[in-house]
Amino acid sequence: MKPPVILARGKHTFLVEKLEGTLHTHDGIINLEELKDKNFGDEVETHLGVKYKILPYRAVDFFKHFKRSATPIMPKDIGAIIAYTGLSPDSLILDAGTGTGMIAAYMAYFNKYGEVVTVEKRKEFAKVARENFKLAGLKNIHQIVGDVLFVAEGFKREFDLIILDMKDDVKFIPKAYEILNYGGFLVVYNPYIEDTRNVYYKMIKIGFRNVESFEILKIDYEHKRVGTRPLTRVWHTGFLVIGRKI
Ligand SMILES: C[S@@+](CC[C@H](N)C(=O)[O-])C[C@H]1O[C@@H](n2cnc3c(N)ncnc32)[C@H](O)[C@@H]1O
Repeated sequence: MKPPVILARGKHTFLVEKLEGTLHTHDGIINLEELKDKNFGDEVETHLGVKYKILPYRAVDFFKHFKRSATPIMPKDIGAIIAYTGLSPDSLILDAGTGTGMIAAYMAYFNKYGEVVTVEKRKEFAKVARENFKLAGLKNIHQIVGDVLFVAEGFKREFDLIILDMKDDVKFIPKAYEILNYGGFLVVYNPYIEDTRNVYYKMIKIGFRNVESFEILKIDYEHKRVGTRPLTRVWHTGFLVIGRKI
């Protein structure tokens, strides 16, 4: 088998990038050379005899295993973006800023026949994201290092979806409207409600229609013999504002 692969035991997972050297787990040491002759679904043992399952590296693993720079958008919010914009898998998507590259990666994965253009102004963040995209095997992402407020001057009206998760999002809304195709969506993600309100009014003023502002709450539960209770301590991640150019 070829890397990357995931080694899993219960909730514990490790991303293996190269089939060489050793991996130190809390259950003992795994000789990664042994993986070369194995298949997905097989097991590998630590030197203490604890078994780990070998799984393929898939989109479901991105959130846990991507190297982080800026705070990424969470899967629950990514799911909402896909569903509420009715993402078609042949879209041209603009994402700014790239940060860790989480939303760009998920969008590229689901937008199989299309392309994601992602813009990040910090070179070192763009580098981390590039490594994440490479390891994930995503080839339909075009990365640009620069300030989207300037870079987008060269863009034409051809985007089906624009996702903003960056400061200065309000400033970019007029340009976003200009470069979106008719019927296209703008999604703006913000952790703060005051910024969300500004985005909402600006989008309406510029001409976006069907503008919705909401947040998604995901509450995890732990089930124990004595009973079941919420596990999630921090419920809020961010607010989404979604509008359409129609
Ligand atoms: C919260 S992070 C984005 C995380 C990303 N959505 C993800 O899911 O991994 C915000 C990023 O926007 C970048 N940024 C801020 N203003 C920008 C601009 N005008 N142009 C390009 N990138 C910008 C920051 O450097 C930062 O990396």
